[in-house]
Amino acid sequence: MAATGAHDPEPAHVGRLRSEELDLARISAIRRLLWAAFGSGKEGFTEADWEHALGGLHFALESAGEVVAHASVVERELHVDDRPLRAGYVEAVATDPQRQGAGLGSRLMQEVTDHIRERFELGALRTGRHSFYARLGWLTWTGRLYVRTPDGPRRTPEEEGYVMVLPTPTSPPLDLGGSLSCDWRTGDVW
Ligand SMILES: CC(C)(COP(=O)(O)OP(=O)(O)OC[C@H]1O[C@@H](n2cnc3c(N)ncnc32)[C@H](O)[C@@H]1OP(=O)(O)O)[C@@H](O)C(=O)NCCC(=O)NCCS
Repeated sequence: MAATGAHDPEPAHVGRLRSEELDLARISAIRRLLWAAFGSGKEGFTEADWEHALGGLHFALESAGEVVAHASVVERELHVDDRPLRAGYVEAVATDPQRQGAGLGSRLMQEVTDHIRERFELGALRTGRHSFYARLGWLTWTGRLYVRTPDGPRRTPEEEGYVMVLPTPTSPPLDLGGSLSCDWRTGDVW
């Protein structure tokens, strides 16, 4: 692993906490990290994105009281063609900008990936950083994407090519060129 320079000590292990177990100090530390990594404003991290990161399991690398890398996994119902699957959906993946490129994000995502393989019928996430996840076994969904609204399924063509999935031992055979739909939520649906 590349040296982390002046940022010792090296984070020892990936901590796991459910959203309801996060204390205020940790919530503040995670939020500082996310806004630092993604930026703010319309293209940056939003309160809706934060809401999407809650309700599941948080993975965090901490150093000197600061969270230096984070991801969370929330359960969502995704449908592959018309088959409902219990999916682990990855949100709020970020590494402290000053510590990026040193393998921390990969170390964290390896644990997230292992967790999803053990517990869910499918993993999924939305990203523009395909190579980062592909190294860990994630695959780009090349087919059509939909969101299931109260008025029926609505295609989300602007998201196509940006969603990656993780097959798990309990996944059915996957046709990556087929259709994939997510449940409705406010903010970005994927
Ligand atoms: C994406 C992100 C989480 C990656 O975190 P990171 O800690 O820098 O991740 P890593 O160091 O493990 O890997 C990053 C790059 O460094 C390189 N790298 C990995 N391990 C390395 C090592 N030991 N030594 C040198 N370089 C290394 C890899 O080439 C990798 O690039 P690639 O994944 O595109 O192939 C981070 O860049 C980030 O927070 N970005 C802003 C927020 C964001 O875009 N989040 C993801 C949205 S889905």
